[in-house]
Amino acid sequence: MRKLTVLSVLLLTTSVFAQKFEGLALTPPMGWNSWNKFSCDVNEQLIRETADAMVATGMKEAGYQYINIDDCWHGKRDEQGFIQPDPERFPSGMKALSDYIHAKGLKLGIYSDAGWKTCGGRPGSRGYEYQDAMKYAEWGVDYLKYDWCFTDDLNAKGAYLTMRDALYAAGRPIVFSLCEWGSNKPWDWGKDIGHLWRTTGDITACFDCVVDHGSWKSWGVLQILDQQKGLRIHAGPDHWNDPDMMEVGNGMSVNEDRAHFTMWCILAAPLIAGNDLRNMSPETIAILTDPEAIAVNQDALGIQGYRAWAKDDLEVWFKPLSNDEWAVCFLNRSKEEKTVKFEWDDNEQSDSFSKRELDFEKTTCTIRDLWQKKDIGKTDKDFKATLPSHDVILLKLTPVK
Ligand code: GLA
Repeated sequence: MRKLTVLSVLLLTTSVFAQKFEGLALTPPMGWNSWNKFSCDVNEQLIRETADAMVATGMKEAGYQYINIDDCWHGKRDEQGFIQPDPERFPSGMKALSDYIHAKGLKLGIYSDAGWKTCGGRPGSRGYEYQDAMKYAEWGVDYLKYDWCFTDDLNAKGAYLTMRDALYAAGRPIVFSLCEWGSNKPWDWGKDIGHLWRTTGDITACFDCVVDHGSWKSWGVLQILDQQKGLRIHAGPDHWNDPDMMEVGNGMSVNEDRAHFTMWCILAAPLIAGNDLRNMSPETIAILTDPEAIAVNQDALGIQGYRAWAKDDLEVWFKPLSNDEWAVCFLNRSKEEKTVKFEWDDNEQSDSFSKRELDFEKTTCTIRDLWQKKDIGKTDKDFKATLPSHDVILLKLTPVK
């Protein structure tokens, strides 16, 4: 009887005081996910080799840590309803896989869905949330991406809250990634539920296009970028807007990959690589591991950047950084090369969200070109450069004290 009371008190307190695990994503999460390159074609060998490659290529050193298995790892539920991995694809089981990944100093992510089936038709978590969360904790999972297919008329906030509480009750700190495509404005309710939320439908490896699949569309880099408008006020440490996993290394040009990566840095977006880490060109590795661009993304203030100026397919983005510094990015959306001339004095910044100001008449800054790895003067002169099509220039401004 006494045992029973203790148990009920415990259960009661976990459900009354359930919350998200705080502090797991104080800067945007960095890692890899299988979907963009491999879609349903996942197995334990691919995951192990990807973990090996994350270390061997310097990505771990650069800050990447999550190895996330997306859809299609699932087998059947057992007689008690517990989910099991597909025995052919993951014959050694998930615990062995997480041990392997943890031994490399990396973390394991997994995927499920709030509905009764995943988007790839595997068993969803609806009705099994607590059992699934228990399994993930037992397996040593560190990150859960939770999708939104086959949810019928479920209430999104309620569905994600249920899984949050289930994860909390299971007791293992797990980053909770809400993959609800922005359909129910997760930025309005996601902050206390998850650590990041998708803001759009799926990305595709194309800089400027929309792919129509009939009942749904996937979006190019520029199309996703434009859908971030107005969302920055909702993001910050431990609660990020997620414009989807990256397509760097998946077929765009080097300029486009650099522009895509840089914009994700300016957006303070999660940096989840979506390419084959086992076969990367030197250019792809250089982009994904660039320490100075990554530092812009991982800045401790966690302020998402904003479009400050736009004309004729040329845009200028600003992102406030720690120590009064700023990142500035010139983006050329057009198919033609552009000449950039930017008059700092006419472009005083006043960002009401971050309460940061930058008046170039009062404050001169030194300028570093982060991709060229060069200090290139000060803001007391106009900035002039040539910018290739579908490319960026990323600068860091440091006030001269
Ligand atoms: C949805 C998600 C994708 C991916 C697939 C898996 O489309 O948005 O990121 O997880 O499902 O089926």
